[in-house]
Amino acid sequence: MLELKNVTHQFHKDEPVLQQISLHVAEGEFVAVIGRSGAGKTTLLKLFNGMVMPQQGTVRVDGECLSQCSRKRLRQIQQKIAVIYQDFCLVSESTALENVLHGALYRNPFWRVMTGCFMEQDSKKAQEALAKVGLAGKADALVSTLSGGEKQRVAIARALMQQACIILADEPVASLDPVAAEQVLSLLKSLQLEKNLTVVMNSHNTRQAAQYAERIIGLRQGVIVKDAPVSAWDDASFAMVYGGAK
Ligand SMILES: Nc1ncnc2c1ncn2[C@@H]1O[C@H](COP(=O)(O)OP(=O)(O)O)[C@@H](O)[C@H]1O
Ligand SMILES: [Mg+2]
Repeated sequence: MLELKNVTHQFHKDEPVLQQISLHVAEGEFVAVIGRSGAGKTTLLKLFNGMVMPQQGTVRVDGECLSQCSRKRLRQIQQKIAVIYQDFCLVSESTALENVLHGALYRNPFWRVMTGCFMEQDSKKAQEALAKVGLAGKADALVSTLSGGEKQRVAIARALMQQACIILADEPVASLDPVAAEQVLSLLKSLQLEKNLTVVMNSHNTRQAAQYAERIIGLRQGVIVKDAPVSAWDDASFAMVYGGAK
């Protein structure tokens, strides 16, 4: 589903952010990427959906090489991939329903988007997506009035509306209290299982990574130090990723 082969990337000359990264994420898999701040987790996520193109190596989504396809094709591939951010990236002054409807933007003609005149069918689907994340009663609430956990669930509903089959989650619960964090991660997990979604989650939290993912990739200074099923991770492996001086 997602494949990186010998990927090396740098933003500044002679300061590689990711070095010789090769990995494969299978369809329906839930993978956590862990590592200190600055290890390269966000850059790795951006490579998966073509927001960043690597200087060396190849990125393939469903077999298609992102740097070789046309802009139009890249946009089509990106529509299959939803991104969920730590700070939600929602429109605060719009309602939960309107934000979810944004997930259907690409399926609608420009005038419809500009006038906010969505098809009745889309509104129904957006309501269903909100119900799926437990927010049926919040459709008309302004996002600015929602709690952090509710905002992240709106972002997940938007991903469902997008009909994405891959979810890239960049520290999705880092801003949430522990109860809301568990709710959001349980929701992601149940959607992964129910809809066979592929999930890649960046996380600082090794306990959450081990609880919700099937496999953990440890990044340290742009290099994969361990890529293994959760059962093969122990304290010594986590120390390899986080321990010692930088
Ligand atoms: N757009 C950018 N321009 C320049 N440097 C960047 C950019 N994005 C990330 N970096 C640098 O790349 C390194 C890895 O960053 P990042 O991928 O955000 O790591 P993480 O998500 O693990 O904290 C950091 O040193 C960061 O400063
Ligand atoms: Mg990051």
